[in-house]
Amino acid sequence: MIQVLHISAECYPAAKTGGLADVVGSLPKYFTDAGMLSAAIIPKYSLKWIHSRDWVTVYSGSVWVNWRERRFSVQQEAGNTLGYPLFVVDIPGLYDRPGIYNDPSGAPYSDEVERYITFQQAVLDWLLSFPWQERPRVLHCHDHHTALIPWMVKYCPAYQQLAPIPTVFTIHNGQYQGAFSWTNGHLLPPYEAAARWVLDWNGAVNPMAAAIKTAWAVTTVSETYLYELHQNSLGLEQLFRDEWRKEWGIINGIDAAVWDPAVDPMIQHRLENDDIQQFKAKNKQALCEWFGFPADAPLISYIGRMVGEKGVDLLPDTYRRFIYSGTKACFLVLGTGEPWTQNQFRAMAHQFPGRFNAVIDYNEALSHQIYAGSDFLIMPSRVEPCGLNQMYAMRYGTIPIVRSIGGLKDTVPDIGEPDGQGRGIRFDQFSMDDAVYALHRAISMWHSEPDVVAALRRRIMAVDFSWEQTIGKYRKVYRSIGAHIDPVLEPAAEKTGPAPASRKAAKPTEKPAKKAVLTEKTAAKPAKKPAETEKSATPIPPAAQKEKTKKLPAKTRPAAAPAPKKTGPKSDSRKKT
Ligand code: GLC
Repeated sequence: MIQVLHISAECYPAAKTGGLADVVGSLPKYFTDAGMLSAAIIPKYSLKWIHSRDWVTVYSGSVWVNWRERRFSVQQEAGNTLGYPLFVVDIPGLYDRPGIYNDPSGAPYSDEVERYITFQQAVLDWLLSFPWQERPRVLHCHDHHTALIPWMVKYCPAYQQLAPIPTVFTIHNGQYQGAFSWTNGHLLPPYEAAARWVLDWNGAVNPMAAAIKTAWAVTTVSETYLYELHQNSLGLEQLFRDEWRKEWGIINGIDAAVWDPAVDPMIQHRLENDDIQQFKAKNKQALCEWFGFPADAPLISYIGRMVGEKGVDLLPDTYRRFIYSGTKACFLVLGTGEPWTQNQFRAMAHQFPGRFNAVIDYNEALSHQIYAGSDFLIMPSRVEPCGLNQMYAMRYGTIPIVRSIGGLKDTVPDIGEPDGQGRGIRFDQFSMDDAVYALHRAISMWHSEPDVVAALRRRIMAVDFSWEQTIGKYRKVYRSIGAHIDPVLEPAAEKTGPAPASRKAAKPTEKPAKKAVLTEKTAAKPAKKPAETEKSATPIPPAAQKEKTKKLPAKTRPAAAPAPKKTGPKSDSRKKT
């Protein structure tokens, strides 16, 4: 039986454009481990991973949308290879397309409202077919693509049988609310007259607002982001304030089985014998060779979508300032997004070989290598509900440089803070001056205080970002809405496959960081000579040379400098969360 059903537009590895997929892909696994049997359901897109699997049809039905009957089937991945049941809804004509949100040119699909409404109705139609005792105990909806479900079960006669099931709505990104004009109102299933005002926000249908009003509990992915939504959420501030009683901020975890430096198949050199120094040096060497960087300079990377929300437009000028001033530091970016930023980066890669390089692509495997081989990861986000990249970076010993907002603030205390438990470098204002100062602190520290860098790496690699803590909080949320989910699996290993074991292996050995004083003062010292330790680690011993010939799959290896060309329409970046 499914106790918690996660309903989403993305789920890694089946369909991913960003963090939403990572989270929805790991939550069911970790929930199930913790005894709450969970499954996920997403639309069936025409994507590689989905094509590569076998699917078993578990339900066929139809729903009426836009005055026509849409046939669909719900299919389950045969073999449950993810450690939990993954279902897809096959809706011919609506989702059998190569993009998740956008067509190959990058434009959002023009029928997106119809697509989301049909998917949500199809999920509910399927759930109606369950005998009532076997219906999920919680419907857990993620982001605006599934935000109408709490409203539908409450106000649409066709689905009201499901109304007793508690609903939870998780906001991964409040910037995208899914609002559409009332001229599309006819796409909605028939609803009680009074429910119109529940849907409406500022004269439009606003699914996110409807979910905040009707879900039994609303969560977002960090405490600070919840606070920020009360201050600024594109018009929903008052609604968030009114509904504060049912709101929770719960920081995401990361899938420690996927992000494990000791076993990660996507990196060139794995962590062996807890030798962090070797691990970092060898992986950096690989990156430096690919991108034409010197190894005796700090490597600062950016990974992610190149969109305003992520603040990436701050980087070109900030980097130029360092490059023009002759500072010894290298910069690498990986991602796709807005044309302006992509073009800036392409031009800079030609202009500053050996200092700057860019891969304009979505490349999961290369991202792992960059986390493993970089010294720093910068995240200058304007908005960051949780942010996973800083956690991946820390797991691989890469020091985060982040703006003090949302989940970045909650996960990256600054090394200058008095309690001596800093994990990275933070800056407050979204301005070039602040970003430059933060980078300057990082670069100076790298050049003049290798011991501090080494101690910091050790400390951040030992932080436990796994899901265990988070799961307990979700359990509390479920309890608060009367969904008591009793553990049914003891132990969970059978159902969840290899996850628990590998996660255990993945747990870092908590070693106290070497005593080093990480203060603002030490971090901000002016650059001196490059660190000896980093230099001496550069040559690769014969054993590693051999391993090095085990090249990454062709897709992983980036073209060397100058900037490789955009490889294709993978920029499903616009509507993601
Ligand atoms: C979205 C947010 C990101 C968050 C992720 C998973 O992508 O932008 O901050 O980490 O969702 O919740």
